[in-house]
Amino acid sequence: MSGTSIDSVDAVLAHISHHGHELQATLEHPIPPGLRQAIADISQPGNNEIERMGVLDRQLGELFADACTALLDHAGVPASDVFVIGSHGQTIRHRPPSGGNAIAYTLQIGDPSTIAERTGITTVADFRRRDVAAGGEGAPLAPAFHAAAFARAGVNRAVVNIGGIANVSLLVGETLLTGFDTGPGNTLLDQWVHHHRGERYDRDGAWAAEGAVDPQLLARMQQHPFLAQQGARSTGKETFHLNWLTRCLAGLTNLNPQDVQATLADFTAQCIADSILGSAVPVDEIYVCGGGAYNTDLMRRLYQRLAPARLTTTAELGLAPEWVEGAAFAWLAWRTLNNLNGSAAEVTGAAGARVLGGIYPGATRSGAGATRLSAR
Ligand SMILES: Nc1ncnc2c1ncn2[C@@H]1O[C@H](COP(=O)(O)OP(=O)(O)O)[C@@H](O)[C@H]1O
Ligand SMILES: [Mg+2]
Repeated sequence: MSGTSIDSVDAVLAHISHHGHELQATLEHPIPPGLRQAIADISQPGNNEIERMGVLDRQLGELFADACTALLDHAGVPASDVFVIGSHGQTIRHRPPSGGNAIAYTLQIGDPSTIAERTGITTVADFRRRDVAAGGEGAPLAPAFHAAAFARAGVNRAVVNIGGIANVSLLVGETLLTGFDTGPGNTLLDQWVHHHRGERYDRDGAWAAEGAVDPQLLARMQQHPFLAQQGARSTGKETFHLNWLTRCLAGLTNLNPQDVQATLADFTAQCIADSILGSAVPVDEIYVCGGGAYNTDLMRRLYQRLAPARLTTTAELGLAPEWVEGAAFAWLAWRTLNNLNGSAAEVTGAAGARVLGGIYPGATRSGAGATRLSAR
């Protein structure tokens, strides 16, 4: 898994069955700075995109294969023991139907053939496009996993994944009621702190915590049309970016960068909290996952808005926040090879649930007749 934050490749080794899942090993695999830049560059419209995408697709395939190999080395597990790799791929463009795109599409790269070739393990990839083909948003896809992993009879739970973009799943007892993107997760915070301080992220939200929220800027950001959309919705970094923020800042000349960071944190928390408070059913417990769970300042802002509901992280349910998304795609790949639906139409707005992704076979089984091609 590599999300919109481009922070690292998250690799998890999980044991999955019809009875549940259990993490066996995890590994955070670094993304070389050159590749990170190439991903950021191609995520914006620019020149020579096909050539650049073709090269990057292969490079990311190699990187994801390296991450799998390093994980298996670390775990001491041979590749032949692995049933399937689920590779989300790197999203480089997301144009969902909810954004008013007449022909919607979503694009994740990181050549799965390269992963299957390098590892010898059957690889499932390209999970989102089947849902888009069925009229859905293609996102978020984690809610079905959130329901399988975290739902409990008799309690209403919200699971909030705060990656670059944030999404929420609403679980009423054991059923998945709905799920959708709430808006920005860490992305605006990351972009602003990087722009002003050269840091990849605001550790623990310490910089934002010391700033003052500007009500005028906050009110302007809250006018974003995405936040008024009803029903299935998803978004990406192409919607919440610094150019948009710059437009919101027009004329607000006396604001210092730290106050802007505080306002971005408040805005992000507000988008998430509104999504939960606007739920058709009261939510008793909220479990946060994704890197944003480690942003103490953001968690405090959420807590203030969501009390008296209980706010904590998925670690309390036995899955550390940083591995939930990776586990979700391992689970989705397992579903695909078992011919089980992975998407939830009540989340994505698709015509129905679908078996997701493409299957890229791993090593050919050795032995006589394994690859008999002759016609009979
Ligand atoms: N200690 C921390 N303090 C603040 N933010 C953090 C911390 N640890 C992780 N993050 C945030 O989490 C992000 C990565 O989250 P992740 O769930 O991997 O997102 P994505 O799925 O978009 O890759 C980082 O870019 C950063 O913003
Ligand atoms: Mg990440």
